[in-house]
Amino acid sequence: MKILVVDDNVDVIKSLQDVLEDYEIIGCSSIGEAKEILSQENEIEVAIIDIMLGEENGLDLLSYIKSSLSNIECIMISGYSNIEKAVLSIKMGAYDFIEKPISYQKIKVVLNNAIEHKKYKELFSKELKKYEIIGNSKATKKINELIEKASKLDFPVLIYGESGVGKEHIANLIHLKSKRGKNEMVKLNCAAIPESLFESEFFGYEKGAFTGAVTQKKGKIELAHNSTIFLDEIGELPLSQQAKLLRVLEDKNIIRVGGNKPIPVDFRLITATNKDLQNLVKEQKFREDLFYRIGVIIIEVPPLRERREDIPLLTTHFLKQVSIENNIEKSIDKDALDIISQMDFKGNIRELKNLILRLFGLSEGKIITKNDLEYILNPCKQIATDSIFEKTLPLSEAKKLLEKTYILTQLRLNNNNISKTAISLNVLPNNLIRRMKELDIKVSQ
Ligand SMILES: Nc1ncnc2c1ncn2[C@@H]1O[C@H](COP(=O)(O)OP(=O)(O)OP(=O)(O)O)[C@@H](O)[C@H]1O
Ligand SMILES: [Mg+2]
Repeated sequence: MKILVVDDNVDVIKSLQDVLEDYEIIGCSSIGEAKEILSQENEIEVAIIDIMLGEENGLDLLSYIKSSLSNIECIMISGYSNIEKAVLSIKMGAYDFIEKPISYQKIKVVLNNAIEHKKYKELFSKELKKYEIIGNSKATKKINELIEKASKLDFPVLIYGESGVGKEHIANLIHLKSKRGKNEMVKLNCAAIPESLFESEFFGYEKGAFTGAVTQKKGKIELAHNSTIFLDEIGELPLSQQAKLLRVLEDKNIIRVGGNKPIPVDFRLITATNKDLQNLVKEQKFREDLFYRIGVIIIEVPPLRERREDIPLLTTHFLKQVSIENNIEKSIDKDALDIISQMDFKGNIRELKNLILRLFGLSEGKIITKNDLEYILNPCKQIATDSIFEKTLPLSEAKKLLEKTYILTQLRLNNNNISKTAISLNVLPNNLIRRMKELDIKVSQ
């Protein structure tokens, strides 16, 4: 790891080189030299800068780095008489400062912390990028505005939308951008827990609370202390549990099953559902008071077919993502994109993403075409129309061709993996191989 040390006292550079032996220290004594080094080296992680650089001011270099190379952390060295400038440097974005005479113990600790901080910042921006909301439709812009608002406030958020529209994606982004974003968000899918287990999942239990409770266990709400809890499919929460959740939201404390001591909890609630909660309220399946409590900020995410303008951007986004992951670059041509933009996507963005992954995997060339798309959308028809339905054949020939077409299709869907294809077709791999030989099917592995 490379560290830049800028100090007009060569002895300081030398002694830092001795002390920080685990790092590659690049030293120089003026701002001009520092800028020169920075323009050539792109692996410098941290810069240690003396504030009094002879005639020059180290703060000038700090401001240059922060405005142009903001991912380098800066640690300032300050003499006693410069303490005000050192304090100012923190405001300007320096990570920390150390006073002269330099304590080598301290510089090691500060440097380690700066590197940790940098790593954390990089991870954090990667996470933020992962949950970026792609799309330029009016609806998506509105969603982005609501996300901005919701992440600045600490109110409960309710996210509505069909399956696959991005409810969890949005919840992740709100949490990350919020003041609680440094802690991990706790997730619980209300549809996946049997009613009898809700209480112990939500509130945890004390040792001996019931048979099988051999140790104490914290519940999800307690685990979300100082963080966010995401309750997915909140519409599935049984009425008995709705009352308990409401009580927690009001009292801000929980009691573990088998316990009697209220434990204070400070969490932010985000819920999601694809059910119309207002209808459930009318049908008396969802408590009205809970509905108002959880829906302080409501985000409605329309289905993809009602915001088709987002489809091209989403398509290229997913294609770029999978290209990077696989180190193979593929793009899509306009005809194919036009067809995709007209599709209905009952499974919304999730279905679109899966389609793009399959297209990426199955298309032969670097550019995904209409043919690739048609092949995936209707593989049997694609092969069969060419060879069977356009001419009259003896039945035995037609049967063979259909069988060949079907096996070929299954092979392509399974990436030419014979064992997987055999499982899909419910035959033994050896029998499949024999039949492939008989039908003259050759595949590249
Ligand atoms: N606007 C978006 N930009 C980029 N990716 C998105 C966007 N919205 C959703 N996704 C991606 O689409 C997929 C489905 O999203 P998600 O799981 O959040 O949907 P959901 O609404 O929670 O679905 P379900 O109701 O089935 O749980 C995920 O891979 C998610 O990362
Ligand atoms: Mg979901």
